[in-house]
Amino acid sequence: MTRQLFVTTALPYANGPLHLGHIMEYIQADIWVRNQRMMGNSVHFVCADDVHGAPVMIAAEKAGLTPQEFVAQIAAQRKQYLDGFHIAFDNWHSTDGIENHQLSQDIYRKLKAAGFITSKVIEQFYDPVKNMFLADRYIKGECPKCHAKDQYGDSCEVCSAVYAPTELIKPYSVLTGAAPVMKSSEHFFFQLSNPQCVEFLRAWAIDGHRLQSEVANKAREWLDGENGLGDWDISRDAPYFGIEIPDQPGKYFYVWLDAPVGYLASLKNYFSKTGQDFDAFMADPATEQIHFIGKDITYFHTLFWPAMLKFSGYKTPDRVYVHGFVTVSGEKMSKSRGTGISPLKYLDIGMNPEWLRYYLAAKLNAKVEDIDFSAEDFTARINADLVGKYINIASRAAGFISKRFNGKVNTAWASNEDEFLMDLRSIATEVQSYYEGREFGKALRTIMEKADTINAYVDSNKPWVLAKDPLNDAMLQEVCSRLLESFRLLTLYLKPVLPQLAEQVESWLGIAPMNWKDVVTVLPDGHQIAPYQHLLTRVEPALFDALFAAQEEEIVAQENKIEELSEEITIDDFAKIDLRIAHIVNCEAVEGSDKLLRLTLDIGEGRTRNVFSGIKSAYQPEQLIGKFTVMVANLAPRKMKFGISEGMVLAASAADEKANPGLYIMEPWPGAAPGMRVR
Ligand code: 2FM
Ligand code: ZN
Repeated sequence: MTRQLFVTTALPYANGPLHLGHIMEYIQADIWVRNQRMMGNSVHFVCADDVHGAPVMIAAEKAGLTPQEFVAQIAAQRKQYLDGFHIAFDNWHSTDGIENHQLSQDIYRKLKAAGFITSKVIEQFYDPVKNMFLADRYIKGECPKCHAKDQYGDSCEVCSAVYAPTELIKPYSVLTGAAPVMKSSEHFFFQLSNPQCVEFLRAWAIDGHRLQSEVANKAREWLDGENGLGDWDISRDAPYFGIEIPDQPGKYFYVWLDAPVGYLASLKNYFSKTGQDFDAFMADPATEQIHFIGKDITYFHTLFWPAMLKFSGYKTPDRVYVHGFVTVSGEKMSKSRGTGISPLKYLDIGMNPEWLRYYLAAKLNAKVEDIDFSAEDFTARINADLVGKYINIASRAAGFISKRFNGKVNTAWASNEDEFLMDLRSIATEVQSYYEGREFGKALRTIMEKADTINAYVDSNKPWVLAKDPLNDAMLQEVCSRLLESFRLLTLYLKPVLPQLAEQVESWLGIAPMNWKDVVTVLPDGHQIAPYQHLLTRVEPALFDALFAAQEEEIVAQENKIEELSEEITIDDFAKIDLRIAHIVNCEAVEGSDKLLRLTLDIGEGRTRNVFSGIKSAYQPEQLIGKFTVMVANLAPRKMKFGISEGMVLAASAADEKANPGLYIMEPWPGAAPGMRVR
């Protein structure tokens, strides 16, 4: 039975370029989809730009464009990434397309008719200069707990306190600097607190085995949490770039309502372009709807999205496949700027996209684990495995076949009982099911083990020795033909990961595009192949210098708006702050906090100090141990959630931390010793 699949990846925000994290997700889904197609299943694979919401609206304004113009510019850049990395979406649409307006409004109307929409007047901060309500991220002020300045409206990065924006001391609008005022407005809510919702979601997410176990556990925690599910605020007031709520002038859907509907909208758009029936497809019980997403948006996809679909009478997702983040040399990436490796630079400097596909595939599994990009590891896997083990087989056999046998293979030996052939084919089902289960690393390991076996066959049959005596010609042709047939099969196994390379091999061997059925075929006896041309080059380590250098240029070129200077002080004011050189004798993560590191500092007092610092996003604890830094030594001890903090270390950061999230702690020149005063 062939499967009928509808597959999506998360829709990227249209406020910036694609980064390595996006490309990784697309490659993961693309490999999965290609495997399905090679199995003969029907797949519709779509994506779109997620264009609505305040960040896009504000970015457009900064660029002097309408939001529509702004997102059109972004959309125009997508193709080079997708083509560049051989990602074969059937369609790329926009959440501002007509289909999404219609579908989102339809879902809303049906939810409303079913009694799942409520409304409530809420009070919220409002920027009186810009005349708009401010989301928490657009409000900053002094933390009500630890009095750190310039903290966001929802939580403090210094002491990890969580609070409402109204609790901030001296709040200001990030957009205009104005003091926000409280203003009330009617908001619409999706009633997730309705017991039917929890009941449905439990069955869908937990009993339904639709999710990876760690994801189902998370969903269970959310569903069984103390307060259960709260109602979800799905409306925003004008001005907002979004979809209007039916019969509610001036009210728009919150971007996260219409974003996932964009999956359906992109499919519908594709179907109308290709003359297929969207409604019939979605109504067909055989249709499987599968979403690939990153771990940060699990909540939306395992609670809001299925519930929205369910109670508006739409089909609910069959699977949500969650992956972790990509780190680069162990450094976490930021949501807005990515890992720092620019996918376009990667292509520009001539790095092969299929290297990246192979490398990421080798590291991917079915779990929600982060994967790390490291230059050494990348080089080793491509050069030693892909080129050294796999490509090597072709290059060792092809020359003899071309020069000695006019390009003709001999496969008279290739019966279905041939042990060599049986052994080659024996991994096909296993590899196929590893792809199906997103265990790409295991698939590639299995294939490379087979490549090892074949290379051992080369070493024991020594074609270069056979070639010395014409009496061995028949043997030489058979050995090399076995190698070429092996290479054909390995290429078939690798095809979901390396589609372009597979195409090159197909054209070199003069065979039709392969799919899984071709596991049991063989190069025909006497078949003539084209002269061998090199298929894949090795990675030159110097390429990474270019890749990482490119990244630095981008950082320097970034707009660097400095924060306004504080009010003038006298030298006596400054003298009150006692800054000391501190030796970081230990540093560790703080359980339960994703912002803080716990530092143990020695300033020569004969005891150490415990200091919490909100620098976890920038440093691994091991990086800091043993280093020297500067601390404020006479700051009154502060009681924090995780213990008492006896001082503060100094770190530099940009004014706009969202755009430029780097944090840099101070390090003195060599020679400075613990306890020295900084003045
Ligand atoms: O987190 C994000 O990047 C969102 N733009 C993902 C949206 S996925 C789907 F719901 F549209
Ligand atoms: Zn605080």
